[in-house]
Amino acid sequence: MCGIVGYVGKHSCAEILLGTLEKLEYRGYDSAGIAVFDHDNIEVRKAQGRLKNLRERMEKDGVPSGVAGIGHTRWATHGEPSDINSHPHNGGNVTIVHNGIIENYKEIKNFLIGKGRHFVSQTDTEVAAQLLDYYYNGDPIEAIVETMHNVRGSFALGIMFKDFPGTVFAVRKESPLIVGIGAEESFIASDVTAILNYTRDYYLLEPNEIAVLSPYGTNIYDLHYNKLSKPLMHADWDENAAEKQGYAHFMLKEIHEQPEAVKTTIRSRITDGLPDLEECGITLEMLRGFRNIHVVACGTAMHAGLVGKYIIEELARVPVNVDIASEFRYRDPLVTKDDLVIIISQSGETADSLAALRLSKELGAKTLAIVNAKGSSIAREADMLIYTLAGPEIAVASTKAYMVQISVMYLLAFSIALANGAINEDKCRELTAELVKMPERIEKAVQLEENSQYAASTLVNAESLLYIGRGLDYALSMEGSLKLKEISYIHSESYAAGELKHGTISLITEGMPAIAVVTQKRLVEKTVSNMKEMKARGAYVIAVCAEGISIESDAADYIISLDECPDILAPMTAVVPLQLIAYYTSVLKGNDVDKPRNLAKSVTVE
Ligand code: AGP
Repeated sequence: MCGIVGYVGKHSCAEILLGTLEKLEYRGYDSAGIAVFDHDNIEVRKAQGRLKNLRERMEKDGVPSGVAGIGHTRWATHGEPSDINSHPHNGGNVTIVHNGIIENYKEIKNFLIGKGRHFVSQTDTEVAAQLLDYYYNGDPIEAIVETMHNVRGSFALGIMFKDFPGTVFAVRKESPLIVGIGAEESFIASDVTAILNYTRDYYLLEPNEIAVLSPYGTNIYDLHYNKLSKPLMHADWDENAAEKQGYAHFMLKEIHEQPEAVKTTIRSRITDGLPDLEECGITLEMLRGFRNIHVVACGTAMHAGLVGKYIIEELARVPVNVDIASEFRYRDPLVTKDDLVIIISQSGETADSLAALRLSKELGAKTLAIVNAKGSSIAREADMLIYTLAGPEIAVASTKAYMVQISVMYLLAFSIALANGAINEDKCRELTAELVKMPERIEKAVQLEENSQYAASTLVNAESLLYIGRGLDYALSMEGSLKLKEISYIHSESYAAGELKHGTISLITEGMPAIAVVTQKRLVEKTVSNMKEMKARGAYVIAVCAEGISIESDAADYIISLDECPDILAPMTAVVPLQLIAYYTSVLKGNDVDKPRNLAKSVTVE
């Protein structure tokens, strides 16, 4: 999604804006631009494509030399990616960058056209810029307040008024925005990773708060012009966490970080060999007696929820529904005050997941969020919160976030099972001890990198492939398939192995690759016969299986064998080769692994 940055300080800011925008590249974008106060003028440079195109444009048209400005990476929503539609946009006295969507932009545009205004772009952003200018009467705050009262949607804005050189304004409704505070300089940014090289101290801008960054200081106001005093937050993320540190891509680095991320996430949540969520303010009592559990999320986070369903149902014997947030929110879901709704989100800002959380609260359910980004909207609004401690995830394709999300699902499943008396303390201790061993086992799975690389080389020319599995392996194969699709652009489907014969097997032709996940011992025979059926029809079958599971040559062409671990924990190791296969397929195809086409890291619009 779009990224916003802004700077006010003593240094020439064009390069600072570009540098901070680089840190937001991972969010996904198709054009970029900056606006800088060059004395009394606002100089705008923008270009379709990557930041290097913007740099080229600046070499040609000149680098603006001011100490205050705003910048933007755009992920097109209204109007195609083009130079004209790129931000910043101008509306007379006002120049803005914008993240999110102005829902009533058509109505406002017609109103402004009626007032004799002309538009040059197809964007909702230009409409917001012109509306701000329409309300501007010499007082920027008044114009912002009036605009906020008249626009609907979920958005954040960085704003410069021509008459206020050196000052940057910012406001948000839903879409996240932070205000960074450095030494004699201040920043705005869509997320804190953008400014870690300059400062770790920041304010979280709440909806309907207005930040004013001027050479004389930074102030935050509400819509009634009251000056607010807010707690200064501190990002404890290591600035190197947002650097590649010698890895070819963030995705590969993040795959390698998984053992450590799991260790960090579970370590402080285990006491005397038992799960202990009290540091998150969650007691066993709070997890007891729910009639139904709903796990609601999007994409990879939803797949982590599917693993959660299998393990909570198996251990705690409580029914678990897993829902796609965009479906849940419009389905009039059957959620009651006796239910627990678990929202999983890496970013904590996914628009549909946030809406699902709010709806669940309205319906009276207890809500629990599993979130990676500190202080994000979902983290702040849920009744209960467990942070995953993965550090920043930069690659659009989520890997370590999934791994820590399922780690937390295990802790939760063990706790709910114990709270409900579905397992006793001994069993819980035994499971927890196995969970503690997982980082080591994940490390061994990561070391099978070459095997995954080889498997990738067999798929790189495929037009389409199938992933199959049963039970937990089916949940996992969905994640494997999504990972491959999003970064290799090869079409793939994941199927419950037993469903193949009901239609999908007709897709198999000579040489078509298929990946079978086989870690659940009681289901091995069943899945293996499905693999044989595929192989007999010409499929090239790659098996990802647990050690000790023997697969004959008439069932698989290539086998990646993982370290032994209890079946219930196998997703934590088996997902690694699936991630690496997707990664290497993308690399072999020469794709932009970390920034796949059309995708955004954090989907803050519907
Ligand atoms: C994962 O690889 C995807 N990029 C995507 O499915 C992602 O998991 C989804 O958009 C949910 O994001 P969230 O965890 O930030 O809510």
